[in-house]
Amino acid sequence: MTISGKAKLAGVMGWPVGHSRSPRLHGYWLEKHGIDGAYVPLAVRPDDLGAALRALPKLGFRGCNLTVPHKEAALTIVDRVDAAARRIGAVNTVVVEADGSLSGSNTDAPGFIANLRQGAPGLALAGKSAVVLGAGGAARAVVVGLIDAGVTYIRLANRSADRTRILVNAFAPAVVGIAWDKRAQALEGADLLVNTTSLGMEGEPPLELALDALPETATVTDIVYAPLETALLAAARARGNGVVDGLGMLLHQAVPGFAAWFGTTPDVTAELRAHVLGA
Ligand code: ATR
Repeated sequence: MTISGKAKLAGVMGWPVGHSRSPRLHGYWLEKHGIDGAYVPLAVRPDDLGAALRALPKLGFRGCNLTVPHKEAALTIVDRVDAAARRIGAVNTVVVEADGSLSGSNTDAPGFIANLRQGAPGLALAGKSAVVLGAGGAARAVVVGLIDAGVTYIRLANRSADRTRILVNAFAPAVVGIAWDKRAQALEGADLLVNTTSLGMEGEPPLELALDALPETATVTDIVYAPLETALLAAARARGNGVVDGLGMLLHQAVPGFAAWFGTTPDVTAELRAHVLGA
């Protein structure tokens, strides 16, 4: 698409940033809506994050997304942080305000929930229980999303018990810690199972988890989307559980940023999924 001298600008800062699918995703929406704008990869070293964010208004950028390893560091750089970003402890979306100040937010929690609602339309979350595997940045966003959606009881298992404790301390009483080697038993009675670890991702070890204790009525979702159908989702589908893959979380978390920078709220469609997967 050709852009003019008035093009609206945004991008994604990461280090490295070459793996990011966000330029392809936002590029699709810009093209689809005929918007005079560009969304570019911005390879920013960790030591340069402050200078790079401060340069956004000077360069006429409307804002940016942040990916690994910048999400946590940005909390102390931007001028204001919304409640979700503060609870999650990470910023993934920055908007340059009219006065040049920087507003940081986190759209991962609503992105996770929007994906779940789109992929499992009948799923009720209020008053339900979930098992969450992992205690990294993604787990924090998932836990915040689940609590905000009304999930009342979350059993959380992570390899490193110290990271489990941090989440339990932050989100008790809704979150209860489970030993990593007790994760299979923890599935008993759960309405939802979420994998937020990197296990099962291409190039990573498999997630070892017997699903026997999981009710057949439970929904299973994985934030890993490469491969799209992880071994966890394949095993869950084979025994009759509803499954939701992780690609939609990436797509849905991008919606608020696009709307803020480019002035149009885009849709997450099957065609978009295919386009992003084609990268
Ligand atoms: P993200 O921001 O995507 O959550 P992260 O903070 O690096 O990334 O978290 C990765 C998650 O995968 C963690 O829960 C990690 O467990 P630890 O906290 O014990 O490191 C989990 N993980 C990664 N490799 C693992 C492995 N081989 N076995 C079990 N868990 C693993």
